[in-house]
Amino acid sequence: MSSRWEEFYASLAIPTDFEENKNKIKDFCEHVSSQQKIVLVTSGGTTVPLEHNTVRFVDNFSAGTRGSASAEYFLEKGYVVIFVHRLKSLEPYVRHFMGQKFLDMLEIHNDEAETSVVAACECLAPFGARAVLYLAAAVSDFYIPSSQMPTHKMQSEAGAPNISLQLVPKILEPLVNTWVPHAYVVSFKLETDENLLITRARGALSKYKHKMVIANILHTRKYRVVLVMATTCSEIVLDPEEIEAGIEIESKIVSELTKRHESFIAESV
Ligand code: PMT
Repeated sequence: MSSRWEEFYASLAIPTDFEENKNKIKDFCEHVSSQQKIVLVTSGGTTVPLEHNTVRFVDNFSAGTRGSASAEYFLEKGYVVIFVHRLKSLEPYVRHFMGQKFLDMLEIHNDEAETSVVAACECLAPFGARAVLYLAAAVSDFYIPSSQMPTHKMQSEAGAPNISLQLVPKILEPLVNTWVPHAYVVSFKLETDENLLITRARGALSKYKHKMVIANILHTRKYRVVLVMATTCSEIVLDPEEIEAGIEIESKIVSELTKRHESFIAESV
């Protein structure tokens, strides 16, 4: 019997660039020594189309700041980084040069993001405990199945549309249990209600059995996060002086996480 995520993926058309992206990631990983540490960072928001010929879509707030800044700090720590993002989401280093004309001179590759996670996991499996998955993207939990989506732009003359969204199965389940069972998997939990934050993060940990959930509240996410692990919880908070000095919370998150990853590697040998 197939599971919900298998049915979900079977119902989707394979993206035209899937094989191409898979081969690119495979080629890239083949050039990385198996002794190196590697991280897959997912970053930014995802959109859900409302029409096949998409004029309208459901979006979310994430600009990709967390993921792109974290990718920079992972590079500083000597990690090989695979950065998965959607078109127009923030990319590493770009935020330092907003509006600068010389960026036009750089060659920037924008490939479709969402499908690359599956391809990348396949390539990361051989790295075992040396691989980190850092799932900072705000992935949509809802979608409209292809068979229920109109082909053309919805017409206002037809009245208010009745849109029924379905649940997207969490990719975390196959990822932790099947695709990269030996990797150090870190997911995020975003809430707007402080009373739910830790309970929901703990719920995700006990359901998916991965290593860490980084819990954050929408309005305080730039200066406070809680690292929730199986038996411990530790808070990272920037104080006013650190904020004033331009210290970014991602530097502290990555610093703490990479220490824990080192211990995990040591315990895994
Ligand atoms: O980009 P910024 O503006 O800097 O914002 C950063 C952030 C707030 C988006 C980031 O810190 C964050 O919290 N990202 C996760 C937000 C989120 O989608 O939470 P969630 O509760 O919907 O999902 C929890 C986890 O499940 C996430 O790690 C997500 O990658 C994963 N997920 C989500 C949907 C899905 N179908 N499958 C999944 O595996």
